[in-house]
Amino acid sequence: MPTLLISRRLPPAVEQRAARSYDARPNQADEPYTTDRLLALAADADALLVCPGNTIDAALIGRLPASVKIVATYSVGYDHIDVKAAIARGLVVTNTPEVLTDATADTAILLMLAAARRAGEGERLVRAGKWDGWKPTQLLGTHVSGKRLGILGMGRIGQAVAKRARGFDMEIHYSDIRRQPPEREHGATFHATPEDLLPHAEVLSLHMPGGAENARFLNAARIALLPAGAIVVNSARGTLVDDDALIAALKSGRIAAAGLDVYANEPHLHPGYLTLENACLLPHLGSATLETRNAMGFRALDNLDAFFAGKTPPDLVTG
Ligand code: DGY
Repeated sequence: MPTLLISRRLPPAVEQRAARSYDARPNQADEPYTTDRLLALAADADALLVCPGNTIDAALIGRLPASVKIVATYSVGYDHIDVKAAIARGLVVTNTPEVLTDATADTAILLMLAAARRAGEGERLVRAGKWDGWKPTQLLGTHVSGKRLGILGMGRIGQAVAKRARGFDMEIHYSDIRRQPPEREHGATFHATPEDLLPHAEVLSLHMPGGAENARFLNAARIALLPAGAIVVNSARGTLVDDDALIAALKSGRIAAAGLDVYANEPHLHPGYLTLENACLLPHLGSATLETRNAMGFRALDNLDAFFAGKTPPDLVTG
């Protein structure tokens, strides 16, 4: 049986399946591994199953024992892995696409509604025992029905968000490297560049990949292109946002509200968010349903099984 080092606790059904096919080494304590600890534990491993919190950079890849031939990440995003360095080292990398599309799209809608309708503020008010009863001017938010939703990145998750938002009679605008074929646009308006899209986005939802290319994409200049009072939703990657710029815009009211599930330098998010009433903050739970987390684990194991059976893993990132 190949030896499989697993960097975090996984749902029981996934760990049980891993144990049937591998000499599986789960992270019993579920403490994040430091680079040195991960490398020490990987000493005789054939494969690693890692999570977004594990930085698999060129330095770590360079120090991996020769026995490690494949890294399966338990995520669709792989900006925590230096794919070029992996390819150079002959290391196979796989991810878990598709299975978390619905859960993540649900979370984007949850954040949009929570931000627009001030749900976080309302919850805090009730829990603090400060709610003094219904009144006509209390916690007035923004109606999302009929508003223009700008989607940056019309991949699987962007499309699933658009599908849900059409249920709220929102007008969908999007930008991506490529235009969708007309039958997949369902009436959405394509904008050739993000800068063309932003002035239309009364609600902006980010669905682009992370990584150096898109670092701090939503900066002060791009925020200035959004309509006054826009709402910003990020369920993709925290590194997409220039935190200082977004915090300033939330403080001034230029951006009415934000719904964020992801942050640069997780879990140490910019402290400026913590005191903002108009920021709804979730702890990176976009894919956190049992069904989805099981499916992600099974998908990661499918990739490992294929690799060790001498086949091409279905979700090859280093292909
Ligand atoms: C992913 O899969 O990339 C997510 O961020 C984890 O939910």
